Amino acid sequence: MYIAFAPLQGYTDAIYRQAHNHIFGGVDEYYTPFVRIEKGEIRRKDLRDISPSINAGTPTVPQVIANGGEEFARLCDAIEQQGWSRIDINMGCPFPMQVKAGRGSGLLQHPDKIEEIRKEMFLRSEVTFSIKMRLGQDDEQEGLAALQIINDMQLMHVTLHPRLGKQQYKGTANKESFLRFMEQCRHPMVYNGDIVDIDAFSSDTVSKEFFKNSNFKGIMIGRGLLARPWMLSDKEPLAVLRSLHETIYRHATQNLCGDSQILPHLHAFWEYADIDHKIKKAILKSTSLPRYKEAIAKLFCGQQ
Ligand SMILES: Cc1cc2nc3c(=O)[nH]c(=O)nc-3n(C[C@H](O)[C@H](O)[C@H](O)COP(=O)(O)O)c2cc1C
Repeated sequence: MYIAFAPLQGYTDAIYRQAHNHIFGGVDEYYTPFVRIEKGEIRRKDLRDISPSINAGTPTVPQVIANGGEEFARLCDAIEQQGWSRIDINMGCPFPMQVKAGRGSGLLQHPDKIEEIRKEMFLRSEVTFSIKMRLGQDDEQEGLAALQIINDMQLMHVTLHPRLGKQQYKGTANKESFLRFMEQCRHPMVYNGDIVDIDAFSSDTVSKEFFKNSNFKGIMIGRGLLARPWMLSDKEPLAVLRSLHETIYRHATQNLCGDSQILPHLHAFWEYADIDHKIKKAILKSTSLPRYKEAIAKLFCGQQ
């Protein structure tokens, strides 16, 4: 079964992806947070994050977010210029700013814009594309209408997070909707949403139905892997978590300036972590690096 690490803006940057790949492994592809155009320019920070040199050795898929053919072409040009021949297209981001601009799940309300993207893709036959999408922005019909165009694209697969954009992260991912969508999709499909344990996912009654459809390719996991980065390995959790943290810590302290820059970055690493509640609170509340280190020492104390 194909397993992907979902893109999580602010969490899974290149350093994190590299470290996770080297320490844990078990992931077939790591998706980058979306590369976007802001104030008319492609964000430099996004381009730096997908630079081939810092992603070397890790199976990485750059992701773009666009509101139509023009933005899409500009983003693809920049990414292809870096040497990539694999691109994922975001049609699922529910953040209101992106949705209002017709990007992410907002794009699903504009079939004409998806058609523009389809035409642009056609001109780039050397690139292997995939799509990551939601069921729709306001209702499922939007996603199904988009699927009529998506079915005419050349794609490696479609990843579906079966929530509506308007739900953001509320409620649960709708596996029945995923099944219905898969019935109509002619591409291989990847399921994404609320997976916290592979065995629990595979033994769930509805997920079992996924495996009966030959179009079912695998899964993408996001917050579950941030919580338990060791999930796909059989290594001792705390020992390997320590190695991952060491890499993130070293990078932050060497590249960022002062506690006010370093601490938020380190806190983000622990935000979703599945660790002792009290220790996590102390880590997230630490207001200086020495305090942070004290809290971390409590977590790892006696574990090696
Ligand atoms: C903080 C945050 C940032 C995210 N950034 C992206 C992104 O850049 N691109 C994207 O396609 N999805 C993004 N997502 C959505 C996740 O990739 C994923 O689809 C979602 O979290 C559901 O999967 P999960 O339940 O396994 O986490 C983000 C989600 C969160 C919570």
